[in-house]
Formats: sequence, C-alpha cells, structure tokens
Amino acid sequence: MVRHFLTLNDLSKEELNQIINRAIELKAMHKAGTIYEPLKNKVLGMVFEKSSTRTRVSFEAGMIQLGGQAIFLSPRDTQLGRGEPIEDSARVLSSMIDIIMIRTFEHNKLEKFAEYSSVPVINGLTDMYHPCQLLADIQTYVEHRGSIQGKTVTWIGDGNNMCHSYINAAKQFDFHLNVSTPKGFEPQENIVKNADDHVSLTNKPSDAAKDADLIVTDVWASMGQENEQNHREQVFSSFQVNSELMAKAKTDALFMHCLPAHRGEEVCKEVIDGPKSVVFDEAENRLHSQKALIEFLSDAKP
Ligand code: CP
Ligand code: NVA
Repeated sequence: MVRHFLTLNDLSKEELNQIINRAIELKAMHKAGTIYEPLKNKVLGMVFEKSSTRTRVSFEAGMIQLGGQAIFLSPRDTQLGRGEPIEDSARVLSSMIDIIMIRTFEHNKLEKFAEYSSVPVINGLTDMYHPCQLLADIQTYVEHRGSIQGKTVTWIGDGNNMCHSYINAAKQFDFHLNVSTPKGFEPQENIVKNADDHVSLTNKPSDAAKDADLIVTDVWASMGQENEQNHREQVFSSFQVNSELMAKAKTDALFMHCLPAHRGEEVCKEVIDGPKSVVFDEAENRLHSQKALIEFLSDAKP
C-alpha cells in the first residue's frame, strides 16, 4: 500500500523517530561529502499554490543530492490553475512521477489528491498542517538537547497550521505542549482532543512559557490572511516572544520559528538573533529530515 505524509499521524511513533535518527545520519554523511544516490532516475513533482523558499529549495536540493530530480509545478502555468479536477491531475501526475509534494490552501484538496495518487504524497503545508517543518524542528531539538520525550514545549501566537502540527507532534513524540493564543485564535478543538492530555491551552503567554524547554512561535498572519494583518497586529500585540517571556522558561530553553519571521511583531530581534535561537539550524534541517522522509516513503533505504 502506498504511504502518504499528510500529517504526522500518518506515521507511527517508531517510524517518526526512525526518520529523525536517519535525518541526523544523512546530515553527517552530507557534511562528510559522501555521495549517496539511492533515487537515481526518480522524479519528485512539487506543486506550489503558495510562495516558498525553504520548502522548495530543501525538496529540490534534497532530491538532487539523493540522485533524482525535482520538477516545480506552479498552478499559474499548468492546468491545475485552470480547474482541471484534482482526481484527474492526481492520476496523471502519479502515472509519470515517483513522489509528489503539494503546498496548497485547503487540506481536503491534499487529501483528495492523495486518494487518487498511485505514488506517495507529501504535505508541503496546508492551511491546517505543516508536518515537514515538525520533522526539522524535532531533529533540531534532538541535536541540541537530546530526546524531546517528556519535555515542555510552549507555543505562543496563532492557533494555525504550525500550531496544529505541534499538537500532533506532542502526542507522537510524547512531550507536553502549552499553547497560548489570544481568545478566538485557539487551535481546532478536534485536533486538541486527538492529542489526549498532551496539550494545555491558556490565553496568558507568561503562564504558558513557565519552565519551558522550548518556545516556538510563528507569524500572526499566515499566507492567505494578508488582509487581516493590521487587525491581527492589534489582537496579538501582547503575544510577542521577547526576552521577558523567554526569561520565564528554563535557563537552557531554545527558541524556534519556522521562518519567514517578522522581527518586532511575533518575535523581537534580541530573541531570534540571540543565543537561545536555533532558527537557522531548524531551516537547514528541512533538507536533511525531508531526505530521510523521501527515502522512507520511496522505500529506498539500502
Ligand atoms: N518554513 C517554511 O515552510 O518556509 P517556506 O515558506 O519558505 O517554504
Ligand atoms: N503559518 C505560516 C507558515 C509559513 C511557513 C503560513 O502558513 O503562512
């Protein structure tokens, strides 16, 4: 049966940990200059309905490093943007290429594509989830501090796609997640419920940050919400991750942000450019963790 990666719940806890360990291994091999090309002649199709720097470059570079190729598909110059049914597009694309990554708006569009695809489909971000980013985040935590199991992670800001993936990660990697959002911007209830007792919600950032091992935030207005920017700046103004908030966490706490970041909004410069911030390791690890994911999904491991 073909395996997809639409959310972190598509893989077992053991498989996820295996991918994190493999990502660390692949990173070491890459740094040592080892040539490893198990995906020779394999093709990754990348459908982007939203902008991207990290996701596009990490998938494209990763695929080339694994010996394969990546094709960038924009809805602007394919029939995807002219209303060809998703079912048809999925059948056609998956008959020609070996693995597909999609960044889109509605999560159910991705689910429908996966239903009709004969090859693995990877979620490169939807309005609901961003699971690839979590692989990189967990890898980064493990590299800096060891296992994340049993740790306290704090999410500050919008109950958005990244927050939802952190909630899934709390259950899958077995850590506790304190989520602090303004009223009305909480994560979806069914996603929180599914994580059992791994998640606590509060509207007070300072309560959420207390004794945290890791503090994470994201932009206040995600892609597609640009027209809400001004309103959100007001609603979220007391949800900035600044030095005062970081001081509530443990002394060795780390700071993460999936990037792109808005300094002076969701995070102040002192924090994101300070010693606790690991945002650039986090960005780099998109490459290594997705190589491990591609290898896993295409069953390419020697
Ligand atoms: N973090 C992330 O997914 O970045 P891009 O939007 O640049 O891909
Ligand atoms: N929440 C952000 C993440 C970008 C990587 C967005 O969806 O725009």
